Amino acid sequence: MKNIDSKGHVTGKSIYLDDIPTLSGTLFGVVFDSPKAHGHINSVDYSKALTLPGVVRILTHEDVTGENQIGGIIPDEPLFATDEVHFQGQPIALIVAKSEHIASKARKLIEIDITEKEIIVDPRIAQAKGELIFPPRTFKMGDSQDAWKDCKYIFEGKADVNGQEHLYIETQGAYAQPMENGNIRISSSTQGPTAVQRAAAKVLNLGMNKIEIDVVRLGGGFGGKEDQATPWAIMAGLAVQILQKPVKVVLSRMDDMRMTGKRHPYAADYKIGFSEDHKILAYEATFFQNAGAAADLSPAVMERTLFHATNSYFVPNVEVTAYSCKTNLPPNTAFRGFGGPQGMFVIEIALRHAAKEMKVSTFSLQKKNLLKDGDEFPYGQIAGGVELEKIWSAVETKFSLEEQEARVAKFNKEHSDKKKGLSLMPITFGISFTKTPMNQARALVHIYSDGSVGISTGAVEMGQGVNTKMLQIAAQMFSIDPQKVKLESTNTTRVSNTSPTAASATADLNGKALQNACQALVMRLKKSAANHFKCGAGQVEFKDEAIYILGKDSHMTWNQLVDMAFLERVCLTENGHYATPIINFDKDKEKGHPFAYHVYGLALTEVTVDCIRGTYEFDSVKLVHDFGQSMNMSVDLGQIEGGLVQGMGWMTMEEISYDDNGRLRSNSLSTYKVPDIYSVPKELIVEPHDTVGTEMAILKSKAVGEPPLMYGIGAYFAIENAVAAFNPNYKLIQNAPFTHEKVLTGLYS
Ligand code: MTE
Ligand code: HPA
Ligand code: MOS
Repeated sequence: MKNIDSKGHVTGKSIYLDDIPTLSGTLFGVVFDSPKAHGHINSVDYSKALTLPGVVRILTHEDVTGENQIGGIIPDEPLFATDEVHFQGQPIALIVAKSEHIASKARKLIEIDITEKEIIVDPRIAQAKGELIFPPRTFKMGDSQDAWKDCKYIFEGKADVNGQEHLYIETQGAYAQPMENGNIRISSSTQGPTAVQRAAAKVLNLGMNKIEIDVVRLGGGFGGKEDQATPWAIMAGLAVQILQKPVKVVLSRMDDMRMTGKRHPYAADYKIGFSEDHKILAYEATFFQNAGAAADLSPAVMERTLFHATNSYFVPNVEVTAYSCKTNLPPNTAFRGFGGPQGMFVIEIALRHAAKEMKVSTFSLQKKNLLKDGDEFPYGQIAGGVELEKIWSAVETKFSLEEQEARVAKFNKEHSDKKKGLSLMPITFGISFTKTPMNQARALVHIYSDGSVGISTGAVEMGQGVNTKMLQIAAQMFSIDPQKVKLESTNTTRVSNTSPTAASATADLNGKALQNACQALVMRLKKSAANHFKCGAGQVEFKDEAIYILGKDSHMTWNQLVDMAFLERVCLTENGHYATPIINFDKDKEKGHPFAYHVYGLALTEVTVDCIRGTYEFDSVKLVHDFGQSMNMSVDLGQIEGGLVQGMGWMTMEEISYDDNGRLRSNSLSTYKVPDIYSVPKELIVEPHDTVGTEMAILKSKAVGEPPLMYGIGAYFAIENAVAAFNPNYKLIQNAPFTHEKVLTGLYS
């Protein structure tokens, strides 16, 4: 089945936040933000801005009717700055005017006086000064301290990895309108409608029931709208509460890039030890997470770094520690992979470092240490259904790995100005929110009396195709034409207390809740049919909109059965709930079984480096991916392709740059380069791994949203491999992204 949004998207008819028709009298908000990264606000003079015709009001922390606080995990983030600012781009006020243009003009008339304080942008410096967002955490298995004496080889080093701008096509925004009795309705471009509702209720001093959040779809989120859609929605809501007029706040691209957090940059130290036969015996790492100026989702992101610190390898003795370091940057946040990629990058760095020193091939080192069934993860979960070795062989045979290696070696021998490089990047990604209580979802299903169906779930469509999957599930459960099923917007009044659309688990959680709701309705309808045909409910079947009794067509249609049941006063609405079984995690012991299952895969990347210019092109990425039993291969392939290229961009060209004053230099699309059609590998092959899948995944179709991003890490190592082929004295750079400048440095130093 095609993605149900394809046609609307390519014809421009799909509705995004800013396409919602504006009500007459709508006002527009523009955010006034801090021009300094750290300091004390001595005064702000709004008088000139307020006299500009068309400016209606400027809202500050003094106008907040409830708590001036939006921190979701830790209450450390004001909606509007009070007397201190902690990052450039921190919101101080909302200018509300008759047009966005007027509000933007007014912004330039505001005068602010700030006494600057010391600015920290480097996480290692923050850690050394004790500037932590919350206490560090350590995951430990075995005894690495004791294991070093058994190691024949030990290597230590540092690895740094940059942040990443989400660059969703649709910027952050919200449109709020007053309803009767002080109620407020907010359309928000958010991955977490309940998160917005909860925070808005707190700031506006209202019950959550007074605030309705509605989401049609997002023009991309990628984690950037899991937590950070909230402030703009609340600002719009606050303006509505005070002015009783509809208010829209949509960030311009540059405001969005400046004010919002990104993927967390990390610095890390590692130490890895091997036995004589190259088995990893011990691994220690210290991660310095650059959290920015407030917690946001950093605690959860940091946790996932620790969960994925050993990637796809079994290590018997592990000790990994992470610090969440407070810096004067916008609070960094969720981004596809959620801290996992940063953890995986470091052990991959350590393995290349070791392979180089031990003079063995990286491939054989990786292969030798792959995780197997029954191995324990450092967090206590026992690995089951591990597909890594099978996937590794599949890559070797399906893509003729040895031949490709020989071809690359031959090319490198014959060319002095161009070199090719190869890498293999395995992935193991845990599926479930790492915070166990978040692994629940609900769905509301209406069967209308004409046989058509309406579905609401907690899932937010953001391009990943979750609505198509929900529609498929309902159509399959009722055995009706998908045309009969409509996906409603995600709305807190229909489905409450939702987890954000995140952690790649949305289709699993909401899909299983939907199955539960549909199943209850199917049982009720079968009972009606059984009464009518005087048989047992177990003898009734639905097939292609017809009712079968004991395998024979009864000549009653789905529509007729629904109509009959309605007249019999059968309830045709159902609410389904699902909570992932088995999973648990004990934070005191840092042990448990946090994930419903893992997704596995392996990517083979080939690059050609131009050794005169330092540029590179990706010849191919060929990968074998564990979809389980994909319920929609075209949607899932889209996720693999998009995730891979997004990961490659992070590792190669996307370079976020702040100056020492905490000012974002890469603040527009002319200074921040993301992959385009020319950066996509010339050949991209995605082979589904042959496997039965797991019952924990919806219809055995494994989560696919985040895992493929981590294939992109292979791009870094393919480049490194090519550089090393040119320069035998090449010194490891260990600092992503591998930009053209760094390639040149590597080639000629
Ligand atoms: N794909 C598109 N097109 N747009 C997005 O914003 N977000 C990613 C991924 N794929 C995203 C996407 C992220 S960060 C996550 S967690 C998952 O989709 C969330 O959706 P899922 O749980 O349905 O996979
Ligand atoms: N992924 C995404 N979002 C989250 C997670 C997670 O594992 N845990 C809490 N929020
Ligand atoms: Mo995705 S980073 O869990 O929104």
